Amino acid sequence: MPNMLTLALSKGRIFKETLPLLKAAGIEPIDDPETSRKLILDTNQPDVRLIIVRASDVPSYVEFGGADIGVAGKDVLLEHPEADLYEPVDLRIACCKLMTAGRVNEDPIKGRLKVATKFVESTRRFYAQQGQQVDIIKLYGSMELAPLVGLADRIVDVVDTGNTLRANGLVPMEHIAEISSRLVVNKASMKMKHTRIQQFISQIREAVKEQQND
Ligand code: ATP
Ligand code: PRP
Repeated sequence: MPNMLTLALSKGRIFKETLPLLKAAGIEPIDDPETSRKLILDTNQPDVRLIIVRASDVPSYVEFGGADIGVAGKDVLLEHPEADLYEPVDLRIACCKLMTAGRVNEDPIKGRLKVATKFVESTRRFYAQQGQQVDIIKLYGSMELAPLVGLADRIVDVVDTGNTLRANGLVPMEHIAEISSRLVVNKASMKMKHTRIQQFISQIREAVKEQQND
């Protein structure tokens, strides 16, 4: 179908929180990705389908045309400053903060600060702005562990309630960025499917406004 809209979403938090916005735009998936093994989900609208990808893969799918539209956390987008995408709507979902954190009672730090994170680009930029030279250790998850076993002095991670940090004897320290999820759009799709995408963006904008008023 030439005018098919493909939307890239990740399972879990982003899918759950995007669902009400899609519903307000008249789009409802037929299968639930939490129970289905399908990676392409049909919706009640014959010209709209959803694809389920890793949260960190959404910018690539959208930039290179695997999807017309996607929903990605700002933390993920900040890791891809070169991505050639439109970012027309702040969806105000999956809100959290990107922060540095360290041990509650840390020993004085000798030498260069070691920072473990999956957010290498934001971390590099943050410490460069502070004029501080640091060694960054790239991890893919469970960052909280790194200071506990002496792998790093600090971590950079997303924080919401702070429960994960607390449970691991860590405290939030510096605030790097406010994070929420954004609608991202492929540039060629925006030209080729302009009317359909503009209509979708307007519906989503309206739904975000209504959700904020609730
Ligand atoms: P990947 O599978 O690519 O490693 P992930 O496991 O980080 O990604 P999710 O945990 O589903 O994916 O998070 C998706 C997005 O939700 C993140 O990019 C971030 O913007 C936001 N997020 C992460 N943790 C929280 C949280 N505790 N509260 C609110 N929003 C969050
Ligand atoms: C995310 C993130 C933090 C945690 C912060 O993990 O990686 O560890 O949330 O939230 P909090 O401040 O409310 O504790 P998530 O729960 O998504 O699990 P994940 O590590 O599997 O992504």
